[in-house]
Amino acid sequence: MKRNVNNLLLTIIALGLALLVRAPFADEHGPGAAPNGITLPQDYKDWRVIGSSHRVDNNTLRVILGNDTAIEAARAGNTNPWPDGTILGKLVWKDTSHAAWEKAVVPGEFVHAEFMLKDAEKWPATGGWGYARWKGMDQTPYGKDASFVQECHGCHTPVKDNDFVFTHPATIP
Ligand code: HEC
Repeated sequence: MKRNVNNLLLTIIALGLALLVRAPFADEHGPGAAPNGITLPQDYKDWRVIGSSHRVDNNTLRVILGNDTAIEAARAGNTNPWPDGTILGKLVWKDTSHAAWEKAVVPGEFVHAEFMLKDAEKWPATGGWGYARWKGMDQTPYGKDASFVQECHGCHTPVKDNDFVFTHPATIP
């Protein structure tokens, strides 16, 4: 009996150690890469806001964020073309009403995070932009294979004269 209890304790300790070792590891690696090899930008949750949008056709709210290079370019009005090293991020939520104020439209269920990375030499076929998207709270990479970028780039073509970017940095004093 004593022996069984000891074995059980040892098993619990071993499992605990295994979890301790694994936990930081899992965080570091994050979700898988997009089919074109782009990995989720690690610090995107700390980026600053460039703009926001509300799509009334599919009832979603969006916030458009930029890394430091993007923010610097946006503030300097240097966005056509955006400089190499720019990353634009877009976070999308289903829209919903605030529980205490029905007319306030607020973010509900998280839909996806998507990114455009500027490197004129790396992605010449798609206007110098690398595209990637991660879906849902579990951040599943979007696209069956690398050709998914045609769908992204194709829909961004109407704004090719604005370096394939729809967002105009929102005016702030
Ligand atoms: C059906 C058309 C359509 C498709 C497909 C599409 N986009 Fe967009 N995208 C837009 C529109 C319209 C906006 C601007 C309005 C908004 O914020 O949603 C936008 C905005 C963005 C932005 C913010 C910068 C900007 O251009 O304003 C990023 C980043 C982005 N899209 C990434 C992607 C990625 C990555 C894909 C493919 C996985 C993709 N998009 C596919 C229409 C599309």
